[in-house]
This record gives sequence, C-alpha cells and structure tokens, in this order.
Amino acid sequence: MNIRNSTYNFQNVTNGAEAELLRLQEQAQMGWAKEFRTLKQFGLEDGMKVLEAGAGPGFVTDLLLEHLPHSEITALDIDDALLDEARSRLSRFPQSRLKFSHASVYETGLPDNYYDFVVARLIFLHLHNPLQAALELQRVLKPGGKLVIIDVDDGVFGAVTPEMEALPGILRKLAQQQAARGGNRHIGRSLPRLLSDSGYADVDMEAALQHSDLHGMEGFKRQFDINRFSGFYKKGIITEQEYEDINTSYTAFDRSPDAHAMMLFFMACGTKTV
Ligand SMILES: C[S@@+](CC[C@H](N)C(=O)[O-])C[C@H]1O[C@@H](n2cnc3c(N)ncnc32)[C@H](O)[C@@H]1O
Repeated sequence: MNIRNSTYNFQNVTNGAEAELLRLQEQAQMGWAKEFRTLKQFGLEDGMKVLEAGAGPGFVTDLLLEHLPHSEITALDIDDALLDEARSRLSRFPQSRLKFSHASVYETGLPDNYYDFVVARLIFLHLHNPLQAALELQRVLKPGGKLVIIDVDDGVFGAVTPEMEALPGILRKLAQQQAARGGNRHIGRSLPRLLSDSGYADVDMEAALQHSDLHGMEGFKRQFDINRFSGFYKKGIITEQEYEDINTSYTAFDRSPDAHAMMLFFMACGTKTV
C-alpha cells in the first residue's frame, strides 16, 4: 500500500510553498477561538495526552501547546519537510511536552490505548481511505478517548459578497478532481457516519463559522488567492474562461468596500468505546 494514500502534497501546492504556509497559518489562527471552544465542549482538557494527526507545519500544534500547558502533544505527519517547519517553529517547547511522529495516519506506529484525545484537522478530505484512518486513530485512543475530525464541505463554501459567479462551477470541478484522485471535498456531511461506521460511539457534529466581520478580510483573501486558481488553470483543471471569470470576480471582491466572506468548518466527534 502507498502509505501516503492522500491528495495533499505540500511539494505540489499550486500557490507556492510560502503562500501555502501563510494560508494555513491564517486559517489556523482564524479558526482557533471557536474550534478550541468546541474541542473543550467535546471534552478536551488540559493535562490530556493529545495526538494531532496531519499536523503539517504545526500552526495548530502551537496553539494546542499554548492553551493546554500541562498536556503532552504528539504532532504526526507523513511529510517530513512540513514536520521540520514544525520542529523549528516549536523548538521553544520541551521534549517532555512535544513529540513528533513522521508516519502515516493509516499506520502510525504509536502505542495502543495511549491518547485521551485526537484532533485531525483538514486531513480527512485528502485521504483515500478515511475509514482505515479512523480505525487506526481508534486503536491509539484510550477507551473513552475522543477523536475530533475538523473538515470542510465545499457544498457550503464560497458564500461571499460580492458574489463570485464562476466559483460554484469551479468548486464543482475541484471537487470532481479531488474525488478522481481519491479525496473528498464534500467530506463534512459524511463525518458522523464515518465515525459511527468505524465503531465510535456518542457521535456528534458541530460547526465553527469564521467570517470577515470578525477577522477582517486579509485571511479570507488568501483563501481565494488568485495564484491558486492560476495553478488550477495551468494544470488543466479549470478552463481559461473560468480562470478569467474568477480573476474578474476576485478583483471586484478585492476592491469592494462591502466585501464579506465566510468559512465553515465541521467538527465531528466520536468516543472510543471500552
Ligand atoms: C491541509 S494540511 C493541514 C495541516 C494542519 N492540520 C492544519 O490544520 O493547518 C494537510 C496535512 O495532512 C498531511 N497528510 C496527508 N496525508 C497524510 C497521511 N496519509 N498521513 C499523515 N499525514 C498526512 C499533509 O502532509 C499535510 O500536512
């Protein structure tokens, strides 16, 4: 089996490494207050042993370490270059609090029944076999431990003012392309069933809504970074006409004094039964 078996590859991002890191950073920081509130509501407490699956460059790991000062956090990712980013960013934390695991979520190599809480943020949409990943994360959880999957659903993405008319068609194409490669940009709606199908109990789902009146426009503009779309055009995923249309819409969005954008993340939680 290809242990990556996922559609996210940092080395191939269409907007370039630096812009992608900034995009992930802003996305993590914008989301944090509400996501942390919901993680606590699902049972996350300081002192717990926490695994972050698909931690990438470690922006969320950083926030977890800051806000759970007595917790031991493991940052797991398949991409060692991203983990190196995380290692240098998080060097201020002692080894007793922060572990790194360079492994696939399908086969973590971590001990059975070790973690109280697992957070998997923006990784499941990329996985070819989400069920297998959910089972592996269940193995490493203690009985009574929780898995929270935080993810998107393109069906509710792109509620922006002024409206970007080309966006729904482009999102549909991106979702189709992601599905053809084995990912799922509509995974949000499937999360509760994924958790129950893989044997988790007390399954529930909440959503964390970010909007530009709360955070300002800059972070949202990065999500619509036109360089990402030019990358999709160059790869033949969208047509030249679609690229031009989205470029025009983006310029109008960028200049509009009334611009507004929203981003909705789903947060599904399941408990490992004894
Ligand atoms: C979009 S990034 C999200 C990073 C971080 N969780 C966040 O919220 O900012 C997706 C991450 O999942 C990782 N990933 C993809 N497939 C994986 C796999 N099979 N096992 C472990 N990590 C994987 C990627 O390397 C990348 O770091």
